[in-house]
Amino acid sequence: MTTRPPQPLQVAIMAAGKGTRMKSTKPKVLQTLAGLPLLDHVIATAQRLNASRTVVITGHQAESVESAVRATWQDKAKVEFALQMPQLGTGHAMQQAAHLLDDDATVLVLSGDVPLTETHTLERLIQASEGQHLALLSVHLADPSGYGRIVRSPSGAVEAIVEHKDASEAQRQIGEVYSGIMAAPARALKSWLLRLNNHNAQQEYYLTDVVTLALQDGVQVMAVTTDDPMQVEGVNSPRQLAALERVFQLRQANKLMDAGVRLADPSRVDVRGELVCGQDVEIDVNCVFSGRVELGNNVRIGAHCVLSDCTLADGVQVHPFTHIDGQNQAIPIGAGSLIGPFARLRPGAKLGQDVHIGNFVEVKNSTLADGAKANHLAYLGDAVVGERVNYGAGSITANYDGANKHKTTIQADVHVGSNCVLVAPVTIGAGGTIGAGSTITKDTPENALSVTRAKQLSVDNWARPVKKKTS
Ligand code: UD1
Ligand code: CA
Repeated sequence: MTTRPPQPLQVAIMAAGKGTRMKSTKPKVLQTLAGLPLLDHVIATAQRLNASRTVVITGHQAESVESAVRATWQDKAKVEFALQMPQLGTGHAMQQAAHLLDDDATVLVLSGDVPLTETHTLERLIQASEGQHLALLSVHLADPSGYGRIVRSPSGAVEAIVEHKDASEAQRQIGEVYSGIMAAPARALKSWLLRLNNHNAQQEYYLTDVVTLALQDGVQVMAVTTDDPMQVEGVNSPRQLAALERVFQLRQANKLMDAGVRLADPSRVDVRGELVCGQDVEIDVNCVFSGRVELGNNVRIGAHCVLSDCTLADGVQVHPFTHIDGQNQAIPIGAGSLIGPFARLRPGAKLGQDVHIGNFVEVKNSTLADGAKANHLAYLGDAVVGERVNYGAGSITANYDGANKHKTTIQADVHVGSNCVLVAPVTIGAGGTIGAGSTITKDTPENALSVTRAKQLSVDNWARPVKKKTS
């Protein structure tokens, strides 16, 4: 860990560009990586660096970008906005943000479409700037075309950044490129921004021209190099977005495995949020985790499961093709429970210990106490299910009368036969049994057998109808 210069750190994030190549109506910086807008990844980086101010420069679809940022960050971090209209280049973008940056700060310039920069890399850059130098993050690329080249003197000192379109043939051979990320003392940066011009191939105000201005002012310019191009890679197209998603997912998978989680295939797991795992957790292929998911010790997740906002206690087994979604409110699943295959747990489900939820069972806004079982083809909605209840195949709670939802209470040790309809509001008394095929509309007594179906009847030697002859 490096130590920081004493100046406060302030981050400016450029996010005014259009992103034409995404071919989307959505602004590029709101395209998602691991379920989060690209811009949120960059703001999160600024937060991890403890930036004292975070300024986002918006332009193209500024309103939707700003409202998306506000919705996500208003409770977590103060994000300020600078509007750049029209967009006349990266230098022009920074000119719009200058008044929001304090003179005594170190400014870190980031791009809203570069999501995978790691904080330790940026810490090195801030460290190099030392509150007084201009520090550029550079990277060596096998194919540097399109990028600004880092031009150095024979002694190796940085002399300029030359944009691809302005570069000579010789300069285009340079493999070291500017990443788009720099750190500079704010007061000096602001004075350079005032002196930019647009006398170049693109007639844009280039932020990269601050290099020449810094050198004119006798300020030292250095390049800090990263050997990981993915950290500075921007998103311009759906292909690049997908490529960065895979990089991000592999990073997370490696972290999980380093913590002891056993992934059947690190290239076939997606975490779009936070996955916290205990010891001896096993995850089979093609699982997607989103929101916040906690897995206790010895939890096993079968193939093709989608888990969102849930907390699984020790020893829970989730069999393949199960969908669990708490929608921002964690679904608790007690120790030793068995879920799936093909189970669906919806918001408001709460499962005690050793609960069994089998194939094609849907649970919504219902509590199942310890040892309760619903093993096949069933629906439990707005229900309170007692301990050790056995809920038969094909049974449902009719919780909705077309206008309102009503509660079903199934007390401890009840057995509900197959194909029953429990019409809510209704209470099934403890220890009771509901005969198969019953439609229950009234409360049932404890320990009783309650049946509502017609008695079975057989007509001997029944002659089936025969088809009439047509002449
Ligand atoms: C810029 C650098 C180039 C570097 C490259 C790295 C300049 C002049 N050039 O190139 O040296 O190699 O990044 O990717 O800075 N933006 C605005 N307003 C504008 C223009 C851009 O906010 O008027 C934003 C974009 O949304 C984007 C970022 O600035 O987030 C970079 O813009 P982009 O057009 O991708 O940069 P390049 O010109 O390719
Ligand atoms: Ca450009």
